[in-house]
Amino acid sequence: PSTASAPTQCVGPTFKGVDEKPSATVSAVVPFDNVYVLPQTPQLIALLSMIRNKDTERADFIFYSNRIIRLLVEEGLNHLPVIEKSITTPVGRTYNGLMFQGKICGVSIMRAGEAMEQGLRDCCRSVRIGKILIQRDEDTAQPKLFYDKLPEDIANRWVLLLDPMFATGGSATMAVEVLKGRGVPEERILFLNLIASPEGITTFAAKFPRLKVVTAFIDEGLDEKNYIVPGLGDFGDRFYTI
Ligand code: URA
Repeated sequence: PSTASAPTQCVGPTFKGVDEKPSATVSAVVPFDNVYVLPQTPQLIALLSMIRNKDTERADFIFYSNRIIRLLVEEGLNHLPVIEKSITTPVGRTYNGLMFQGKICGVSIMRAGEAMEQGLRDCCRSVRIGKILIQRDEDTAQPKLFYDKLPEDIANRWVLLLDPMFATGGSATMAVEVLKGRGVPEERILFLNLIASPEGITTFAAKFPRLKVVTAFIDEGLDEKNYIVPGLGDFGDRFYTI
């Protein structure tokens, strides 16, 4: 696996020899068991290349972001508990299968996290979705909770926390504290994210060792304005404004 200091790796299809494969920058690696990075497939790298490109127009940005969000949600669901369930097929045979155990809900960190809600709805019909708005307090420069609307029985649910860009992690950290304050055990929180900074994700994963992070990519770092680099700019602006 590649690291931030040696970020170029071959990612072509498996049937091609190493010499024939195109090389690409792949995700950095962090040494935390509770951080799962999506497989760095040619498909994922091509989708990320679309949304990272400053020349990609809004409609394409939305389309390709949604494809990555779908991959994140599908992978996230694999981290939820299942129990055995045997069913009978129309030809009278038994199939020893599985079913999800427990109720889930989504919680988006506004505004950018709301862009991930549809991807969750596409996979989980009628899923309950709550919202949390955290912004920087102008006086203290610290993240401040401005608004939350969460399912009243959230303490009994698995929570898929949604935020596409994980920079310093201030908002995500506060969102987890809010959820824990409502009685959600840390181990029932799954944080879904498109691009993370190594410093943000490292602090977060160490602070909350029992929750799980599913991300598509860990980038090189943060710039002086706390934008993720190479990043994709402001996700909310690119998703919501023309
Ligand atoms: N939020 C964004 O939208 N982009 C960044 O690079 C960091 C935070």
